Amino acid sequence: MCGIVGYLGYREAYPIVINGLQRLEYRGYDSAGIILANGSVSGLYKTKGKVSDLQQITENKNTAGNLGLGHTRWATHGVPNNENSHPHVSNSGNLVIVHNGIIENYNSIKKELLTRGYTFSSDTDTEVLINLIEEMKTKNNCKLGQAVQLALNNVVGAYAIAVFDITKPNEIIVARLGSPIAIGIGENNSEFFIASDASPFLEYTKDAVYLDDEEMAIIKLGREIRVRKILNNDIVEPNVQELKMNLEQIEKGGFDHFMLKEIHEQPSAILDTYRGRLLPETDVIKMGSVDNHIAKFLNAKRIVIVACGTSWHAGLVGEYLIEELARIPVEVEYASEFRYRNPIINKGDIVIAISQSGETADTLAAIKLAKSKGAFVFGICNVVGSSIARETDSGAYTHAGPEIGVASTKAFTTQITVLTLIALKLGSLKGELSNSELHNYIQELSLIPSKVQELLKVSEDIEKIAAIYKDAPNCLYLGRGFNFPVALEGALKLKEISYIHAEGYPAAEMKHGPIALIDESMPVVVIATKKGHYEKVVSNIQEIKSRKGKIIAIVTKGDTQVRDIADHVIEIPEISEALSPLLTTIPLQLLSYYIAVMRGCNVDQPRNLAKSVTVE
Ligand code: M6R
Repeated sequence: MCGIVGYLGYREAYPIVINGLQRLEYRGYDSAGIILANGSVSGLYKTKGKVSDLQQITENKNTAGNLGLGHTRWATHGVPNNENSHPHVSNSGNLVIVHNGIIENYNSIKKELLTRGYTFSSDTDTEVLINLIEEMKTKNNCKLGQAVQLALNNVVGAYAIAVFDITKPNEIIVARLGSPIAIGIGENNSEFFIASDASPFLEYTKDAVYLDDEEMAIIKLGREIRVRKILNNDIVEPNVQELKMNLEQIEKGGFDHFMLKEIHEQPSAILDTYRGRLLPETDVIKMGSVDNHIAKFLNAKRIVIVACGTSWHAGLVGEYLIEELARIPVEVEYASEFRYRNPIINKGDIVIAISQSGETADTLAAIKLAKSKGAFVFGICNVVGSSIARETDSGAYTHAGPEIGVASTKAFTTQITVLTLIALKLGSLKGELSNSELHNYIQELSLIPSKVQELLKVSEDIEKIAAIYKDAPNCLYLGRGFNFPVALEGALKLKEISYIHAEGYPAAEMKHGPIALIDESMPVVVIATKKGHYEKVVSNIQEIKSRKGKIIAIVTKGDTQVRDIADHVIEIPEISEALSPLLTTIPLQLLSYYIAVMRGCNVDQPRNLAKSVTVE
């Protein structure tokens, strides 16, 4: 949560920092702020609201300076208002900070600083931290880097910070524990960029250093960056990586919203996810990260999947896939529960952690716990080089490309693609799948991108259905088997971007309670694919109809039975049930998208949310 951008170099910092903040706005958009300096402060501007509000208040103001720090906030301590916005300045007026994370012991530090005469104008933990740094600097008469280090060794919590001293405008200190930070390096160290991810500086440099947890960097113009361990001051050789992402990937490409663009990217994202792994000519699935540990996978007594939100729903689909195709018992846990409930991890268990961002705090903590109990942890992440990707013993990237819309779409289908590959591979090696079954699944999987493409063509029909139900206060989603998690995901998509209350249920559970909600104003989305528990779901549909509920059914192409009773049908191409979530998900994403647009909601940045949840 929260996005940080910084620039130090020979260019004007303002446009770089503002554009960068816009790219990082997915990380939080409660308030925004920027400071510009050139030996003295030329401008410090903060506002509740978005980066566009910040831009407005800086119009016709002094924004000169080759040093700048900016911040877009997801509020934790203190309501979203101007005072609580970053950057924060120390009592002397010299030290400046932007911070992503939470300082848990800020209250006790604040009390101590108050007794020493410090004053505070905000309710934030960050203002406490910058004054603690100031206190360390004054007390020890030391350089800024050392003061930051001393202060950080006194705090408990998580942070990615950038700090500078207004009187020393050629140096920025950055540090990280639990929240990501990347440093872009210009030619001959003539300029440096700092950001929560590399997107703000893609057009300026491809050379980047990602700090690891418990590391800090001293960035000085014209000098190589120096990286040290915060705890003991050990020198760390910076690992300069070449960025593979390009600018086009993080722009809207003609779509009205990132979410719509990302829905439409699913054919290529799924293809990129299995490219080089799925070899349909030879019926082989090649996954180095699984192959290198194949004995562990084949001998696993149990697989535990940990994840949050949409990734947790993908994990549920994974459970159905792995149990059905490879006959290995699977449990799916919310990472936030797993980490706090002393889970039983036995020798021979494998933990699979799923996360688009690779930064979700709960999932990261669950991984650390599983590792401490001796588990082998496999990660499925989208963001290359993310904390989870680095923390896991092995793993597979989803290769979906940057997902900017807060609502996960292509991350979900590509996570399921990786899980399908794993399930098929293990199923075939364990002898649970015959060669011909494997062959059929592989052939079908290789056709998924073109089937998704075909499905996207029905967008207009879905838009018409959206227009009918856009004002519904509630909505139910029902599915069975492989499509029960898809029902949960459909409901999550609708509630998070349109603020309509929605719930997903296994279709047969309806009679145990939710059926009481059904009346003529209740839309019910039912996934009724031909190869699922079709007849049973048809009975569920009848039960809803006889209570006057409105049915939006997702059916297999050519279906006539459901068409006769449903109010609306959306057809998906013929596919085996195990692979059907890769198709049934698409119309549900589009339905939520159009409803949210028609309700005038901010689709890409829904209220109260952030893309990457790096707090508990
Ligand atoms: O980055 P992660 O996959 O770990 O994120 C987990 C959830 O926060 C995320 O899936 C969230 O539920 C999405 N906003 C749903 O669209």
